[in-house]
Amino acid sequence: MMINRFTLLAATAMALLPATTIAQAKELVLYCTVGEEWCRAQSEAFTRDTGINVLMTRKSSGETYAQIKAEEGQPRGDVWWGGTGDPHLQAAQEGLTEEYRSPLLAELQPWAVSQAETSGYRTVGIYAGALGFGYNSTMVTENAPACWKDLLDARYKDDIQVANPNSSGTSYTMLATLVQLMGEDEAFAYLKELHANINQYTKSGSAPIRAAATGESAIGIVFMHDAVTQTVEGAPIVTVAPCEGTGYEVGSMSLIKGGPNPEEAKIWYDWALSAKAQEVGATAKSFQVPSNMKAATPPQAPKLSEIKLIDYDFAKYGSSEVRNALLARWDAEIGALPK
Ligand code: G6P
Repeated sequence: MMINRFTLLAATAMALLPATTIAQAKELVLYCTVGEEWCRAQSEAFTRDTGINVLMTRKSSGETYAQIKAEEGQPRGDVWWGGTGDPHLQAAQEGLTEEYRSPLLAELQPWAVSQAETSGYRTVGIYAGALGFGYNSTMVTENAPACWKDLLDARYKDDIQVANPNSSGTSYTMLATLVQLMGEDEAFAYLKELHANINQYTKSGSAPIRAAATGESAIGIVFMHDAVTQTVEGAPIVTVAPCEGTGYEVGSMSLIKGGPNPEEAKIWYDWALSAKAQEVGATAKSFQVPSNMKAATPPQAPKLSEIKLIDYDFAKYGSSEVRNALLARWDAEIGALPK
């Protein structure tokens, strides 16, 4: 290289810069699929513990799956953290995520490990929560709904909200739950009838209970812990576990294949499975059951052992074939219905 006036000037300028600005700051690109407040608290806790900067974006489960699929070959994200397990399993099946066996697997609940085994170790469970609904007790004052079938009552016309199952994992969990409870044709017949009572299919899974909390809508079909969050915040929301039985999610985490920061991604992965990291959720009013057996379960978390849970078939409903087919049928038979 020829040394001229300009290279000398550049070298002098570099020498004057503090070392930290020359060395690339460590960072991680996080696709986060829990509530916004928890996403922020978790990212900040990680930076405090490791010094690694987190570039975080929050989207719903189905949306994040679609984004990772669209970015296949040129991935921009490193870790997909949170959101319902089914689209994580679909991403695993489609080779969008990386196989990894964390040493922390030994500390996890069987339902979290089983998610890893089903996917060939391309995803893992980080929390669990049951599906249900919540109602505003200042708006629903008598004959409170207790079952899925009660939501069909004509007195709830335009008073119920649920998300769209394409964007939302919560809503896909409802679709798969009804299919497992009733059979596919019966489930679609139920959803058609329910449509008369739905005022809006939202993008995010928890939006319907925020609308019920403010009185914009009377009932929101959501994960039970999301309804509890509203009650804890002071809203007149009552949480219901449907009498016929209900499904549940294994909230999951996956490493995005070929992401820009693979080392930092693994540091996040192991950290996020630790008991300490899993106790951050409760500080952000998120009341899921943590997957690390040593992590404290928040006292507000709905008790899974007291809820009539179906034996949710994650391998089947998280497969590309079944998830794509159910969503296509929902678009054709429910999403296309006039309002
Ligand atoms: C909320 C719940 C999570 C769930 C997530 C799914 O944040 O607290 O337990 O995994 O919703 O979000 P989505 O918008 O995809 O339904």
